[in-house]
Amino acid sequence: MCGIVGYVGGGAPGARAEGVVMGGLARLEYRGYDSAGIAVVTADDAAVAMRKKAGKLVNLAKELAERPIDHGTAAIGHTRWATHGAPTDANAHPHLAAGGRIAIIHNGIIENFSALRAELEAEGIEFLSETDTEATGHLLAREVETGASLAEAMRTITRRLEGAFTLLAVDAREPRTVVGARRNSPLVVGLGEGENFLGSDVVAFIEHTRTALELEQDEVVEITPEGVTITDRSGHVVEREPYTVDWDASAAQKGGFATFMEKEIHDQPEAVADTLRGRIDEHGKLHLDEGLVHEALLASVDKIIIVACGTASYAGLVGRYAIEHWCRIPVEVELAHEFRYRDPVVNVRTLVVAISQSGETMDTIMAVRHAQRQGAPVIAIVNAQGSTIAREADAVLYTRAGPEIAVASTKAFLAQITATFLLGIYLAELRGNKFPDEIEALLSQLDEIPAKIQRVIDTSEGIREVARSMADERTVLFLGRHVGFPVALEGALKLKELAYIHAEGFAAGELKHGPIALVEPGQPVFIVLPSPRGRESLHAKVISNVQEVRARGARTFVIAEEGDTEAANHAEQVFYVPNAPVLMTPLLQVVPLQIFALELAAAKGYDVDQPRNLAKSVTVE
Ligand code: F6R
Repeated sequence: MCGIVGYVGGGAPGARAEGVVMGGLARLEYRGYDSAGIAVVTADDAAVAMRKKAGKLVNLAKELAERPIDHGTAAIGHTRWATHGAPTDANAHPHLAAGGRIAIIHNGIIENFSALRAELEAEGIEFLSETDTEATGHLLAREVETGASLAEAMRTITRRLEGAFTLLAVDAREPRTVVGARRNSPLVVGLGEGENFLGSDVVAFIEHTRTALELEQDEVVEITPEGVTITDRSGHVVEREPYTVDWDASAAQKGGFATFMEKEIHDQPEAVADTLRGRIDEHGKLHLDEGLVHEALLASVDKIIIVACGTASYAGLVGRYAIEHWCRIPVEVELAHEFRYRDPVVNVRTLVVAISQSGETMDTIMAVRHAQRQGAPVIAIVNAQGSTIAREADAVLYTRAGPEIAVASTKAFLAQITATFLLGIYLAELRGNKFPDEIEALLSQLDEIPAKIQRVIDTSEGIREVARSMADERTVLFLGRHVGFPVALEGALKLKELAYIHAEGFAAGELKHGPIALVEPGQPVFIVLPSPRGRESLHAKVISNVQEVRARGARTFVIAEEGDTEAANHAEQVFYVPNAPVLMTPLLQVVPLQIFALELAAAKGYDVDQPRNLAKSVTVE
């Protein structure tokens, strides 16, 4: 939440600062779009130049066009997802201190800000915003005014802060420096030639460099045109190896599609194929990407707990069916924010699997730490390279979905499901639950999935048409059973997020226990129909559920497998997806539901890439 960019580039033309930061903010806007702001330092001014505006980045761009800033050597920029204080101009970042000498931006929550504010106000400092951030600027000012360098001042003040933060600051007296610090919020450094970058995410600077390094907890970084210095909490210089980001700027662009979400839906065959690619060695053995959880330990775990939030948790729900079926290990799936507050029974024989696209979801980070404190090994299924969860977990299985920019998750979801399957296959092999030929069969079935997803996308006109006709609906229900249940949950979540329509996903069998009371004549109900080639009784039971809602006047829209001749008898319209092994069907069935939500939201004229009130990386608890 909140996007942060920093740039420093010394000499002539030295003119890139504003442009680089605005470009970075445009790519980070998915992290929050309540307001945006920029502060630029020029070599010869006593104060930084600042512009900030409530609303989307376009408002800031307009402001800059009307009131241009002189070209600068260093700049910081921020796009906000509001926590403390309404989304107004005054609460927008940056915040100034020391009479305009210092500017600071922040992502996170300073939990002890009230006490800090009271202390500073008692000294006569006047606050101009309601934010928790402004106090950090005044603390910094107090230090630099006693002669400390900006980096020294940052190290001093972060010791006093509680909560989560990424802070970037500039000082007009140090025009060739940007200083950053982080705790529980992300900050990545981009290494350039004669210029260096900071960002909440590598997309902030991917256009300029693919060489990056991560900051660890409680480190302070100082970037100048010539170099990068990282220091730990006590001020000792830390050496850090850079890495190369394995995708380039084109992956973070719309590629000819009208929206990122449309593009990312079209990226899904590749996201699944890339997640599968190269994971199996010449001996047929699966490999995790980073770190190691001892195989003997994995062979001996007696329970798996998957922790995740939102869409990622639904990927975990799908994974549960597969892992339990293939490995015969009990699997629980828990919302990360509930997990640690219920005193879960976790120990060294519990494998905790954290699923996260961003790798920065605070709820999931906290669940990982809680599990590790109880001695549990943690494997992360993460999309963002080098993110906090990837770094803190004991091993990582990266989903290779590429950058997901649209706020609502699509391709990451499919890649996450694929990764849980890989993990299940890996464990089944390790624990001797499957013969090598069975493993091979599963892998080749998975290999066929990307082409089938492509077919679903290519034949989506029918569902798009239905979506356009539903712009005035007030409620849509989604039913599913077995692996179709998480698909129903995801279908409902996508519709809520994008089209702001009330939507509920139910386990089809649960309907008669209460929710059926919601069904009125004309109520649209989407049903994810299990394959008739799976458990016959399951298909028949869901058909009965369809009939129950139809009998009460519902309009039924069914996602069914090609060749399911029964489906059409029970639906106003059927959307067919190709055959796949039962456990893999969610990878196909969810696609029409994503497209439905996208198209319906677009028909209502909503911004599908940046739905209201949301942000992509939920870095607060
Ligand atoms: C829904 C969505 C969210 C995320 C959730 C977890 O479209 O994107 O529900 O899935 O906030 O985010 P990550 O995967 O980054 O941990």
